Amino acid sequence: MDALEPIERTLEAAIADAGPDCPGRLAAALRYAVFPGGARLRPKLCMSVAWACGAEDPALVAAAGSAIELLHCASLAHDDLPCFDDADTRRGKPSLHRAFGEPLAVLAGDALIVMAFDVLANGARECPQRLAPLARIVSRASGAAGGIAAGQAWECEAEIDLSRYHRAKTGALFSAATMAGAAAAGLDHEPWRRVGELIGEAYQVADDIRDAFGDADALGKPVGRDAALARPSACLEFGLQGAIARLNGLVAEACASIPPCPRGAELAGLIRQEARRFLPEDIARLAA
Ligand code: IPE
Ligand code: IPE
Ligand code: MG
Ligand code: MG
Repeated sequence: MDALEPIERTLEAAIADAGPDCPGRLAAALRYAVFPGGARLRPKLCMSVAWACGAEDPALVAAAGSAIELLHCASLAHDDLPCFDDADTRRGKPSLHRAFGEPLAVLAGDALIVMAFDVLANGARECPQRLAPLARIVSRASGAAGGIAAGQAWECEAEIDLSRYHRAKTGALFSAATMAGAAAAGLDHEPWRRVGELIGEAYQVADDIRDAFGDADALGKPVGRDAALARPSACLEFGLQGAIARLNGLVAEACASIPPCPRGAELAGLIRQEARRFLPEDIARLAA
């Protein structure tokens, strides 16, 4: 079975559930924002951690991973808006506001954020005692206290610390993924925060490198936005070699931070394998 099949199925059910009371164009915008997906990295990470921790409720794990992916899709819809990055393409097609207009892109983003919590509550029916920690993990990852809202809001400050900015705008959802995987297995989730933060920071460094050196057609989204919008970027701060060294260091540190769990060594292998795909081969070769 495709490892992501439970995620795709849960996302499909959630989008279909918008139902007859949802105006047609909003329903279409919701589907457009979620399908076809990108790499689905965050739900993959959540499921891998849950597996490594010995989780026994697959519906709860799929709900946790899907909730995080819905928040991610919402963040992309909002991030592409003219008031943020003003991006015309995403995942190889017109960005949501380009396809549906700004009002529907704002509303679809809002609706996806709320949908994340509905999916979580629905998936926790058999394990209601695990819902409270999961809801807390997911809400804090998207909110103003170091979550996505905080991350995006750093762009409105005069001074930005690169690491803090990356940790909030990207790391928060990755640490939600590792913590939710552990919480879905009924374990203490706090020790899993650091692993996710480090993978998220590594992923944002890779995104900065792709933005500076990548190809828009291959990536399915515009490049050169960080320089054009004067955003802080690992590439501009450290150069290509320095940024790649930082990326590799962060991944190694993430693997070394995996808390004791039944399949920790296998999980480290999966993380290393996934991280090798963070950069397209031609860019990785540039630095070799
Ligand atoms: C893009 O995330 C936004 C960043 C945090 C860099 P992804 O690169 O995971 O996007 P998709 O989901 O695969 O399209
Ligand atoms: C996206 O960051 C992070 C969020 C959407 C919260 P970027 O703006 O750097 O990501 P891309 O390059 O548009 O995917
Ligand atoms: Mg942005
Ligand atoms: Mg952007």
